[in-house]
Amino acid sequence: MTVKWGLLSTARVNKDILTAASRSVNAEVVAVASRRREQAVAYAQEHRIPRAFGSYQELLDDPDIEVVYISLPNSLHAEWSIRALQAGKHVLCEKPLTRRAHEVRAIFEAAHRSKRVCMEGLMYRHHPQTLRLTQLLAEGVIGRVQFIRASLSFELLVVSDIRLSPDLDGGAMMDLGCYCVSSLRLVAGEPLSVSGLQVTTDAGVDSRFFGTLVFSDEVVGQFDVAFTLPRRSRLEIIGTRGTIVISDPWMCENPGIEVTLNGKTETLMIEAVSHYDLEIANMSRAARGMESTLLGHVDALGQARTIEALYSSAAAGRTITLPELDQ
Ligand SMILES: NC(=O)c1ccc[n+]([C@@H]2O[C@H](COP(=O)([O-])OP(=O)(O)OC[C@H]3O[C@@H](n4cnc5c(N)ncnc54)[C@H](OP(=O)(O)O)[C@@H]3O)[C@@H](O)[C@H]2O)c1
Repeated sequence: MTVKWGLLSTARVNKDILTAASRSVNAEVVAVASRRREQAVAYAQEHRIPRAFGSYQELLDDPDIEVVYISLPNSLHAEWSIRALQAGKHVLCEKPLTRRAHEVRAIFEAAHRSKRVCMEGLMYRHHPQTLRLTQLLAEGVIGRVQFIRASLSFELLVVSDIRLSPDLDGGAMMDLGCYCVSSLRLVAGEPLSVSGLQVTTDAGVDSRFFGTLVFSDEVVGQFDVAFTLPRRSRLEIIGTRGTIVISDPWMCENPGIEVTLNGKTETLMIEAVSHYDLEIANMSRAARGMESTLLGHVDALGQARTIEALYSSAAAGRTITLPELDQ
C-alpha cells in the first residue's frame, strides 16, 4: 500500500517528512505546491517530486493526492486544513494546529462531513520514548504525579522568521509552548485553570512565555519557553515516590528516560527511531482506514483551548478557569 502525499508549501520542515517518506513503504510524496510556480518547480526538481503546482488550491484539485501535509505558517493552518478536507483530502497539519478552539471545531466538522481524517503534527507523541513515559506513569512507578516542569528555549536571531510575526501567529508559546502544553496535558489531563506571563517583542509577538497549569488540588504543571535564551529542553515529573526526567522530550534525537527512586537514578534506554517515520506511517494507514490517527479532535481541542486561555491570561493579567472539555 502506497498512499500519495502532497506538500502544501516549500517550508523548511518538509525535509523531515521527505526523509521519512523516502524510507517509507506506505507513503510517497507525489506533489508540492508553492505560492510561486517557479519555486514549486525548483523545489520539485531538487527533491525529485513528480508534480509541482503554482498555488495551494491546484494541489488540492489534484484527484490523485490522498494526504495533504500542511507546513504553512500557523495563521494559515485552519483555513488550509478546512480547504483540504473539503477537497476530500486527509490532512496532517503541522503543530500548533491553531491557537483558537473554535477553529479546531470548524476543522473537525469539515473532517466529519467529508469523512476524512485530520491530525495535528505533534511528532513526539509517536516516539517510543513518549509511549514508555505514559507506561511508567500508568504503572505508578513514581507514585502519584504532583508537579510537572517543562522547558524549551533557543535563540532565534533571524528577524524575518515566521515565528516572530504576530500576523502569522508566531510566538514562543505557539512554536515551543505547544510541546510543553502537550506534554503537561499528556501527563496530567486537561487543566482546570491556567496563568500565563509573556514578554513580547516590539512587533508584539511573545519571545518568552511562562505558564502555570492547575490540574487538581495536588497536581500543578509549569513551563517556560523562549526565543531569547540558550538551547534548553527538559521535562521533569515529580511524583510522591520519585521523579522522571527526560532531557530530549520533543525532538527525541537522544532518547532516554531517567527515573530516580530513593535517591538512585536509573536511565532507561529508548530506541533512537524517527518520530516522523512513525507519524507518516500512522497517517497513511489512517487515510486507508486501517487504524485511527494517534491524535484527533479531542487532543487538538485540548491543545488549542489551553493555548488560547494562556494567551488570554497573559493579556488580562489574571488566572483563567477552563470549563470541562466540551467537544
Ligand atoms: N513538527 C516539527 O518538527 C516542526 C518543525 C519545524 C516547524 N514546524 C511547523 O511547521 C510550520 C512551518 O514551519 P517552517 O519553519 O518550516 O516554516 P518556513 O520554512 O518559514 O516555511 C513556511 C512556508 O509557508 C509558505 N507561506 C505561505 N504564506 C506565507 C507567508 N505569508 N510568509 C511566509 N511563508 C508563507 C511558504 O511556502 P511557499 O513560498 O512555498 O508557498 C513558506 O516556505 C509551522 O507551523 C511550524 O510550527 C514543525
